[in-house]
Amino acid sequence: MFSSTTYQRRREILKKEVSHGGILLLGHIESPINFEHNTYPFRQDSSFLYYVGIQVPRLAVLFDVDENRDILFGDEHDLDDVIWMGRQETLQDKCLKAGLQEVRPFNQLGAYIQNMLRGNRKVHYLPPYQSYSEILLQEVLGIPRAAISPSATLIRAVVKQRSVKEDQEIEQIEKAVQVSVDMHRLAMQIAKPGMKEFEIVNAIQKLAADQSCSLAYPPIVTVHGEVLHNHYRQHTLQSGDMVLNDSGAETAMGYAADLTRTFPVDRTFTVQQREVYQVVLKAFADARCMLQPGAQFKEVHLQAARSLVTGLIELGLMHGDPEEAVQNHAHTLFFQCGLGHMMGLDVHDMEDLGEQYVGYTEDEPKDTETFGLKSLRLGKALQSGYVITVEPGIYIIPELIDRWQAEKKHSAFINYATLAQYRNFGGIRIEDNFLITPRGNRVLGPELMITVDEIEAYRSSFC
Ligand code: GLY
Ligand code: MN
Ligand code: MN
Repeated sequence: MFSSTTYQRRREILKKEVSHGGILLLGHIESPINFEHNTYPFRQDSSFLYYVGIQVPRLAVLFDVDENRDILFGDEHDLDDVIWMGRQETLQDKCLKAGLQEVRPFNQLGAYIQNMLRGNRKVHYLPPYQSYSEILLQEVLGIPRAAISPSATLIRAVVKQRSVKEDQEIEQIEKAVQVSVDMHRLAMQIAKPGMKEFEIVNAIQKLAADQSCSLAYPPIVTVHGEVLHNHYRQHTLQSGDMVLNDSGAETAMGYAADLTRTFPVDRTFTVQQREVYQVVLKAFADARCMLQPGAQFKEVHLQAARSLVTGLIELGLMHGDPEEAVQNHAHTLFFQCGLGHMMGLDVHDMEDLGEQYVGYTEDEPKDTETFGLKSLRLGKALQSGYVITVEPGIYIIPELIDRWQAEKKHSAFINYATLAQYRNFGGIRIEDNFLITPRGNRVLGPELMITVDEIEAYRSSFC
């Protein structure tokens, strides 16, 4: 945990911002896999973690803004718990570390909330994303599911606060990136023809665990990098393939990293792979140059798209004016997703609170319709203290090409005949994590091989 003053300070800021009523944050419970006592690894809700820091199941916290009291609702271990799980730090002690003085039994939460509601006081809560939280909200608020109405005031306040990382949070994120860099180096060391994708996943997972980390999300380690969130891991690596490794560690305190590298199964890329890789790397570099306070991330995304199109024109896969091609969204045949997202306690930070709140503003709302832009999670102006990812890619998806080609879609920009030679190309993504600094940006963590020469030299020293 951070110091108790950290949590107290964060709560004070939040209460000031919300200004009235009460703020209810629900912690997670242990979720059963196949029966009640066989559970998934426990992961606390990230906003609960941010304001309270206690990683124990079945807690709720109420910040009573009107009365300036912070009350934790939860139960101490009983003798049964001690028999089965051993003696553990008391909830009271954990609360002291979180700067919380008042602890009440969990079953008193409903009565407290009902009392607030009877006094016509507002209870602010965040959007529930687990059934348990949804059911608990219905119970304590005494409302049906359809009446659950998260507080926009609270969402905005939490987003504002969690978006700008404290130095101690950046330290945590850098630790996650550091472990992730080691995971990626290891993957590039051990990959060889005949190996299964899951063998790499197992190895990087062990490395993370050896550093007391878990994984921030299910790793994407695949020879089919064109499948954006590919979790199938049974393919055998073959000479001539590329491996796309998108994996990141999560520290014990819950902070994430999110890195991607694409490398050849052989010592070197093929000529075709190298050429496309250079295009993605140029887009990555062009995007990176733009990262500074005030830069609209949507513009950075569009610049990366223009850069990709320029490179694809040089390769003969597209033609025409890059600006025009991007305005018409023709690049989305190759780059179907967004350039990046916020990162912190969640790999897609605060995505549970809604992308419109996290990545956009009321003046410039998210485009939820247009192919490509609807997957851009971050569009608004960057601020010093934001931690974000930059992750351009080129993904050759045969099914998408077939559809577009049949419709002659964007044939003013796309050379379908040349594209046929790339049909089984796969996909390339390059992803790093950046802190926005007062004057620009800083890549987080130690350097990880990124150029063709660096990757080939590293691969060659192990193959
Ligand atoms: N790891 C998923 C992503 O890059 O957003
Ligand atoms: Mn990623
Ligand atoms: Mn990412």
